[in-house]
Amino acid sequence: MSDFHALKISSVDALTQNSVALSFEIPEDKTEAFQFEAGQYITIKHGVNGQELRRAYSISSAPSSGKLTVGIKKMTNGTFSVYANEQLKAGDVLEVMPPEGRFVFEQTSSAKNVAAFAAGSGITPIMSIAQTVLESHSENQFVLVFGNQSAEETMYLHEIQELQRKYSDRFFVQHVYSRAQEENALFGRIETSTVNFILKNKFKDTSFDAFYLCGPEEMINTVSDTLQKNGISEERILFELFTSSDTEDTLAEALDGKTKVEVIVDDETFSITMDQKELVLDVVLKENIDAPYSCQGGVCSSCIARIKEGKAEMVKNQILTDGEVAEGLILTCQAHPVTPTLKVDYDDV
Ligand code: FES
Repeated sequence: MSDFHALKISSVDALTQNSVALSFEIPEDKTEAFQFEAGQYITIKHGVNGQELRRAYSISSAPSSGKLTVGIKKMTNGTFSVYANEQLKAGDVLEVMPPEGRFVFEQTSSAKNVAAFAAGSGITPIMSIAQTVLESHSENQFVLVFGNQSAEETMYLHEIQELQRKYSDRFFVQHVYSRAQEENALFGRIETSTVNFILKNKFKDTSFDAFYLCGPEEMINTVSDTLQKNGISEERILFELFTSSDTEDTLAEALDGKTKVEVIVDDETFSITMDQKELVLDVVLKENIDAPYSCQGGVCSSCIARIKEGKAEMVKNQILTDGEVAEGLILTCQAHPVTPTLKVDYDDV
C-alpha cells in the first residue's frame, strides 16, 4: 500500500538562501505511477539515525511540463528539510510515494477566474495550479496574493515574474511583505484587510470561480472566514494546510477502554487489540502493518480509511467533509476507537 519508488534526483536548484527546488528523473516504467494533477503532493521517505522519516512536499511543476519538482524550505530544527537544502545533490536517490492529494485544479472547457492566497512555502502547489490554470484556457485569469518576509525570502520569485511576462493580461500578483517596504507590495501579513482589498477594491469587478489557500492554519482560517463573509460559498474555497496548530487531545483523556481492531490493507486483514487512548495509525505502524501515511498530524490526507464496523472519533479534522465523515471516512492518524470493536479498511477509499 505504501508504494515507494526509488527516484534519482536530476537537479537541486537554489530558490532562496533557505530553499531549494528538487527535481526527479522519472524512468519510462514509472511515468504512469507518477502522473499528477496540479496541486498534488509526494511523500518522501528517508532514514535518519535508524528512524524512518516521512515528509510530504507539494509539487511545484505543472503536469504539462513533464517534470516532477518540489520546493523545500529549510525549517528551523528541521531534519529532512535541512538535509535536502544542505546535502542533497543531483544523482542522489530518494524513496518517493506517487502523487496524491485533493487540493487540485480540475480543467474545464469554460473560462475560469481563480484566486490564490499563499504564504511562504505554501506557494509550491500554487505554482503548479497557476501555470495549469493559465495554460488550460486562453481566457482564464489568475490572481495570486503571496505573503513573505521580503523579496529575498520569496520562493519561486523568478518563475512568478516569468509568468507575469508571459501572461501579462491574465496573471496578477499582489506581494505582501512583513519585513520589507517595497513599491507595489503591501506591508504586513495576509489578513482580513488584505482579502477585502483584493475583493472589494483591486478586483472588485471580477467574479472568482475558485479560491486556493495554502500556508499556515492561521492564515487559512482568516482568509477563508473573510471570503465567506464576502458571500463566497465554502465549496469555492479549497485549502491545503502547511502547518497545523497543536490540538490538545482531550478525547484520549476521556477514554480508557480497549478495542479489538481489524485492519484491512492491500486485501490482507490484521487483528490487533489497542487501548482507546491510542491513535489507530500509531498502533497500526507499531504492528508493522504497511498502511499509508505521511504527516501524522492531520494535515495531509494519506492515512484515510473507511470504517466498516464500530466507531472512531477524530482529535481534529480539517480535511474530510461532514458528508465524508458521515459515510465512514476517517483520518486514522487522528482517530481513537470508541467502541469495543472497530473495522477499518484502507483499501476502500
Ligand atoms: S497522515 Fe497526514 S492526515 Fe493522517
